[in-house]
Amino acid sequence: MRTATPTDVFHNPSRYGDMASWRREVLDLHAAGPVHRIEAEGFTPFWAVIGHDAVMSVERQPALFTNAPVPVLATDAALELQESQPVQIRTLIHMDRPDHTDYRMLTNDWFKPAAMAAMAPRLEELSQRAVATLEAAAVDGVGVVDFNRDVAVQYPLQVILSILGLPEDDYGRMLTLTQELFGAEDPDLQREGSTPEDRIATLVDMYSYFMQLSADRQANPTDDLATLIANGEIRGEPMPDLEKMGYYVIIATAGHDTTSAAMTEGMAQLASNPDQLALLRDDPALIGNAVEEMIRLASSVRHFMRTATEDTEVAGQPIKKGDWLMLNYAAANLDPHHFEDPLRFDVTRANANKQIAFGFGIHFCLGAQLARMELRSLFSHLVPRLASAEIAGTATTGQATFVSGYKSLPLRYTLE
Ligand code: HEM
Repeated sequence: MRTATPTDVFHNPSRYGDMASWRREVLDLHAAGPVHRIEAEGFTPFWAVIGHDAVMSVERQPALFTNAPVPVLATDAALELQESQPVQIRTLIHMDRPDHTDYRMLTNDWFKPAAMAAMAPRLEELSQRAVATLEAAAVDGVGVVDFNRDVAVQYPLQVILSILGLPEDDYGRMLTLTQELFGAEDPDLQREGSTPEDRIATLVDMYSYFMQLSADRQANPTDDLATLIANGEIRGEPMPDLEKMGYYVIIATAGHDTTSAAMTEGMAQLASNPDQLALLRDDPALIGNAVEEMIRLASSVRHFMRTATEDTEVAGQPIKKGDWLMLNYAAANLDPHHFEDPLRFDVTRANANKQIAFGFGIHFCLGAQLARMELRSLFSHLVPRLASAEIAGTATTGQATFVSGYKSLPLRYTLE
């Protein structure tokens, strides 16, 4: 009989607030094995899958390991409350085949590289804006900014507003809603006195916002993604409102906190490793690989859950029908059997692009290409201008088990 591993790294949000200690403990867990039984008060017991190969093997079998019924870790109390609501949110992440295939097809081409190339001028403009922010904050070439607040949070949110076709005026509203939704466990990001009820109130706000948007794009179609969703058909029928809302919510939320966290992680790594910044400045052709390293170490989507539909095994560990499994991407990206010296930020790492931060298989991140383009564009503009960079104060990290990353990064820099 397998005994439970005594750790709270996977389910205690505050552990994600100190990633240095989180990573050290995860390395010890890797030494003990790729799959761990977690039995924690208030949670249904689950298996934490942390081996890179083990995560891939689960992802390769979507019929054996489904996203339904609960694809994100939550306490039993939070799940009970969710279940008691009259409507349940239903996004791509909540779906399995065959629905998932039909719903994903609707927007899949929109996110393909050829279509995404059309975004390049907008990314160029936002990257120039980021350089201008650093220039404006500098005196005689030396400046201090909060890189997360002043650059990284702004950029991906502007991209999402552009692809959905929303006005810049809605920026503040979208930012608050997403941060409340993902940061519901974090004391700084919650609504005041936040409870699971508040999280639901956040969703209701989003619903009403997107209902209006959808009605507008049905009446006045344009070429944006909001129009594609508003008028989308599934198996020849108009998409039901609930699924439409789910689509808007996932596009609006999945694409910015995740990407801004990777940007800030990237800058923190450059500031902490001047030799790597120097390598990139000497050879800008390395930026693509450096971006993979940034995304690997950020792993801002910490996990998704799966449920076993049959008795089976993962990496030799017997799993029972109905068992809940956590695919912990952040841990898999530190698997020492896969990434040599995994805590090292190495812009020349030969297998950096084998990082699994975007998942794998049928749910592979729809926005992976876009996120990569954003980071490549930003760092291609910043790196040549950064003569030096250092962390100038205490950086803070969000406390959330689902999506988290830096909340602030005080950065001192010298521009050329
Ligand atoms: C660095 C940034 C990002 C990271 C780390 C990330 C990570 C992930 C992960 C781990 C998954 C689940 C994959 C799986 O289950 O195998 C996912 C799914 C998804 N992501 Fe991302 N993502 C990022 C950026 C984006 C962006 C920019 C968008 C664009 C709007 C986006 C939209 C989505 C959508 C729609 C899904 C659901 C796909 C499905 O279930 O079929 N993501 N992402």
